[in-house]
Amino acid sequence: MQFPDRLIQHFDSALRVMAGISVAGRANPAARVADGELDSAQRRHSAGLMRVNHVGEVCAQALYQAQAQFARSPAIREQLLLAGREEEDHLAWTAERLRELGSRPSLLNPLWYAGAFALGTVAATLGDARSLGFVVETERQVEAHLNEHLSSLPPQDAKSLAIVQQMSADEAEHGSAAQALGAQAVPPFAQMGMQAMAKVMTTTAYYL
Ligand SMILES: [Fe+2]
Ligand SMILES: [Fe+2]
Repeated sequence: MQFPDRLIQHFDSALRVMAGISVAGRANPAARVADGELDSAQRRHSAGLMRVNHVGEVCAQALYQAQAQFARSPAIREQLLLAGREEEDHLAWTAERLRELGSRPSLLNPLWYAGAFALGTVAATLGDARSLGFVVETERQVEAHLNEHLSSLPPQDAKSLAIVQQMSADEAEHGSAAQALGAQAVPPFAQMGMQAMAKVMTTTAYYL
């Protein structure tokens, strides 16, 4: 594909992500789960956590798009695109759950998307092995974060729990797949930087 076509394609997917019109390819794991009774504080807490997860998936779209775009090996690009499609399911499921909880996605999504796209571009320009290492570390941090949500979500919120459980399993898969393709470990200072950025994002997205 020529550069202008790619640019238009990216712009199109960025708009779709931010407008919340992504479509899941797989059934929503919450679809067959009965909705539990939540009081208003629990509902607010669930919505805050699911908004954080939704922002994480907005970032995942931007990261995978950028990393796939600049990947050198076609096999690695294929894997990045495949993982990105699964992240689109996560994006659609978390958006649906936010709607059900009577809430909304983060107002800062354009900012998160742009930041993550820039970060993904930097990771990709460091070469495929480092870019894969970045995927491994990101997915590891996201999985740990989702597992915290599994204990923080109200136990009655079975629908959110079902979604987060499936997401956590998928993130582990994405990390393993990137590892198997020859990931080079992210240095400790960069791991800490990523953690600090994630902290800013998750704290802000809970409210905003
Ligand atoms: Fe995800
Ligand atoms: Fe993932």
